Amino acid sequence: MTPPRLYINIDHVATVRQARRTDEPDPVEAAVLCEAAGADGITVHLREDRRHIQDHDVERLAGRARVLNLELATSEDIVAFACRLRPYQATLVPERREEVTTEGGLELARPNPRLRETIRRLEEAGVRVSLFIDPDPAALDAAKDLGVPVVELHTGRYARSWRTGVAALDELRHAARHGADMGLFVHAGHGLTYLNVVPVARVAEIEELNIGHSVVSRAVMTGMRPAVEAMRHLVKDARS
Ligand code: PXP
Repeated sequence: MTPPRLYINIDHVATVRQARRTDEPDPVEAAVLCEAAGADGITVHLREDRRHIQDHDVERLAGRARVLNLELATSEDIVAFACRLRPYQATLVPERREEVTTEGGLELARPNPRLRETIRRLEEAGVRVSLFIDPDPAALDAAKDLGVPVVELHTGRYARSWRTGVAALDELRHAARHGADMGLFVHAGHGLTYLNVVPVARVAEIEELNIGHSVVSRAVMTGMRPAVEAMRHLVKDARS
């Protein structure tokens, strides 16, 4: 069976850089390393408050990443930016300024002319549009009605509850099948880690996983030893 594609979200490389507003670590350098390690694509979220990824990061990534998935909300300046830059894929997400991360899927129960118009503009620019939604059959039906080719299922509930039950995994399986049956491409992501990813990666209808925080966290730890060794050499040899 074909495994799902793995897209790495590198937002939190930029989070570390923005803590000092210098030029390291560089998300573009991280993207090149991710691709060299076998990532099928790179994902970044250009948030309205620019708390991590900046416009110039996305501009540079558009030229360097082989496959770029840009997450964005429907704010005018970012939609215009995406239409100009034309990444391979745009994933539309809800955004609330006070949230720590994207807490839920798009609200599709009520008509949303702004969302509809954003989809139209992105598709007209030649961008493949994905909607980030909760694993709920009604949300899948609404996404299908909006005419997008792709949905990304929010795996947050699964990520919070996988240790204690299978209900959220069943919900994901059911939603993935429902989406695929309607002809949608189904992706998934949010809160996936080295401990909980395998059952989701086994869901046959899920074609792509977007994983960020856990991979960046692991990279900090696995890279710590060589990083300290290199600095220790410099300091030790400085006076010899
Ligand atoms: N998918 C979407 C749509 C997201 O907004 C995020 C978080 O930016 C992710 C996947 C990745 O989530 P995590 O960083 O928890 O792996």
